[in-house]
Parts: sequence; structure tokens; C-alpha cells
Amino acid sequence: MWLKRFAISFSIVLVLALALSGCAAPAAAPAAATEAAAATEAAAAAAPAAGGELEVFSWWTSGGEAAALQSLFDAFSAKYPGVKIINATVAGGGGSAARGVLQTRLAGGDAPDTWQVHPGFELLGQYVEPSYVAPLTSIYESEGWKDVVPSALLDLMTKDGEIYQVTVGVHRGNGLWYNKKLLTANGIEVGPTMSVDEFFAAADKLKAAGVTPLCVGDSGIWATSQLFENTLLGVIGPEKYKGLWDGSVRLDDPDVKKAMETYGKMLDYQNEDHSALSWDQAVKKLMEGGCAFSSMGDWAYGEFVNAKQKDNEDFGWVSHPGTAGSFMIVADGFVLGQGAPDVENTTNWLKVLGSKEGQEAFNPLKGSICARTDCDRTKFGVYHNWSMDSFAKDALVPSVVHGSAAPADFQQALNDAVTSFVVDRNVDAFANGLVAAAQSSGFGK
Ligand code: GAL
Repeated sequence: MWLKRFAISFSIVLVLALALSGCAAPAAAPAAATEAAAATEAAAAAAPAAGGELEVFSWWTSGGEAAALQSLFDAFSAKYPGVKIINATVAGGGGSAARGVLQTRLAGGDAPDTWQVHPGFELLGQYVEPSYVAPLTSIYESEGWKDVVPSALLDLMTKDGEIYQVTVGVHRGNGLWYNKKLLTANGIEVGPTMSVDEFFAAADKLKAAGVTPLCVGDSGIWATSQLFENTLLGVIGPEKYKGLWDGSVRLDDPDVKKAMETYGKMLDYQNEDHSALSWDQAVKKLMEGGCAFSSMGDWAYGEFVNAKQKDNEDFGWVSHPGTAGSFMIVADGFVLGQGAPDVENTTNWLKVLGSKEGQEAFNPLKGSICARTDCDRTKFGVYHNWSMDSFAKDALVPSVVHGSAAPADFQQALNDAVTSFVVDRNVDAFANGLVAAAQSSGFGK
């Protein structure tokens, strides 16, 4: 109460003081001089930080990822040329290796200024809960972002009324990419959607012709977990899929087991060297004609762009079999580390990420769409416009593999269960393992 009263009386004093100073002002200065003074003031207000450093921690190391990250660095450096950027990357798609390194640094009090994060459980559970990050609500207010970022996305980044992440792009996780020329050569044409049966029909045809149907690069196990996650969504549908994470649907539901069987069958069509390849090497193999399809989030699009492949000529895409009508959200953002050594530079970095210009430069290269609703569609190609339409009308579902749908312990348990299943193909063990993991994680019945 006293604080409120203090604030009110303080503002009355302030208004009075301003009014008084206005009364006492000298005769107006010549217009030109006033303009010059205003310009200097404005320049000072917009002045870049004098220098110093900015450490940006991420796992964006593949060709497409690195090029997109560089576009953000370029946008930042154009405004703040005196700041030295430290590009602290830890290779390993999906952040599989980076997150562990980051946790060690955070626990040791050696936080980077800013790091890559997914909204939902990953942001709120791993970084907000232990107070590793600082709130960014005031930046959202000063930049007017609350009006342009969808409220559903804001919710995933908010705890106790404070927003903790600036999202730079939103990936669609449930993509099936294909080598168009290879499919055409084998008499296969992909329509606007693909069912699970259509996929297997195409896969059989390719296999009979001696072509590897499916490219997987699961040297990082998350990539095959994602193949499972996408297949799960395709077989059980978005409503039931969402029910898994709020505990209303069990992970040993008969439909979930059917999805596990379907996933197992898909593995029969994958490349023999899958465990030796990373996700981007698998996409490269597809481009080179070493296989026909790859199920991957649309960061794969960044690889095609980076390799100068042409949309709908060299490569094509469709929703992962059975998932048309759903958009698996994998959103990328950055945070401000609590006690970050370079707060001003980090704040400026986050402002670049949240800006229309920053997102319009970054997302065409990365494959994701803007997190803002006001980006200029004409600056994006066919794929992005397709994805934007999907985001606007389809069922939006969260990803476990990319940290949003379930806590980190379940994410890890899923990867472990998938690792076993790839070898033993035991559906019951897979389902029971996930039920137990969901229970111990606190959301499963
Ligand atoms: C995801 C991330 C994407 C992409 C992908 C592969 O977790 O959100 O931006 O980098 O991993 O590394």
C-alpha cells in the first residue's frame, strides 16, 4: 500500500515539476537548433553499446543452421559493430550434446550471456525454475511484441506473469522430405498429403527397384525418436496425441501400440548406415540420391537451401504420413542469462531476434516461420507459405523430442526406450517403459 501511495505522490510531484519547468523555460530556441538537439538525443538513445562481448550458445552447426545463425550475427553486427560475438556452439542436432554442456556451465556459475532454448518444459523447467534466466517482459512491452506474438506461444514462455524467452522462429517438426528426381525416375508422384499406407506402397516400390526408401541419421538418437514421435502423431491423431501429455491417454493405449508397430515397420526401410550419420548427413544422402525420403523438422529445409537445391524440382515435401492437418511446433528462442556478463549487449541481441527484420532475414534460411504474425509473406518462398498456412489452420501440437511437451526426464526416457526398441522391436516393453516413465515424471496415470 505504502508503495502505491508513494508511487502516486511521486508521479504528482513529477508532473508538477515538469509543468513548472515548462513555465520557467526560456524563449523558444530556433527551430533548426531544436531539431539538431533532438536528432542528437535520438542518436544517443539509439547508440550502440560501445563494445564488449556477447556470448551466444547454441547447437546450430549444420550447414543450414550455421548460415541462418550467421544472418542473425550479421543483423546484430550491422547495428552494433563494436561488439565481439563469441559463437559458442556445441555440435549435435536437437541440442543433444549442448544441453548437457550448458547445464554444467550453469551449475558452475559460468552462464553464457544467451542460449538457445525451446519454449514449454525445457524453458520453464530447466532454466526458469532454477532461476538461471532473467525475465524479459519489459522488452516485450517496450518493443510492442505482445501485440505480434501469438498468445499461445507467449503462454509457453511465461511463468507467474513474466516472459522469459524471445522466439526467433517456429519450425514444423512433422515433415517428410523427398528427392523429387529420384521419385519421378521410379514412377512415384507424391500428392498434397500422404497416408501411412501410401508411404509403405511407395517404399515397397523403391525397395524393389533397389533404392533405399528412408534416410535416417540417428547418430544422435533424437532423430529416430522424432521419426517415432511423428509416426505416433500420424497414427493416433492430434487430439489423442495431446492427451498423452496431459495424462488423459495412456502410453500403452492400443493405438499407441499400433503406432509403435508402424514405426518398427518404417525402420525396416531405413538406410543401413543410419547410426553412423547425423540428421543433416542423412538429408545430404537424400539430396545425393542415396535414399528417397527423410522424416525431419523443417530445419531440413535449411540444408536444401544451403545446398542451393530448388523447391519442387530437386526436392519436395509433404506432411509425415498421416499427419496432414497437424503442425508439430518446435520453436527456437534465446534467453538472457541471470547475471549475464554482458546484459546490454544481450538485450540488444534479443531485440534483433524479436524484430520483424531479424526474423525475415533468419527464417528463410532456417526453414522456420516467423514467431511474429506481421512478417511479410512475399519475402518467403513456397515452402514457408505452405507452413504458414498450416500454422494458421492446423492442430498445433507440442514436441517431446524437442523439449516442449514433457519434462526433461521423460524426454530422456523416451530416447532410452527408442534406443532399445530400434534393436529389440518389443512393442510391449516400449509401451510399458513409457508408461512407467510418464508416471515417474508426474503426468502419466
Ligand atoms: C531442434 C532445433 C532446430 C534444429 C534442430 C536440429 O531442436 O529447434 O532449430 O536446430 O534441433 O539441430
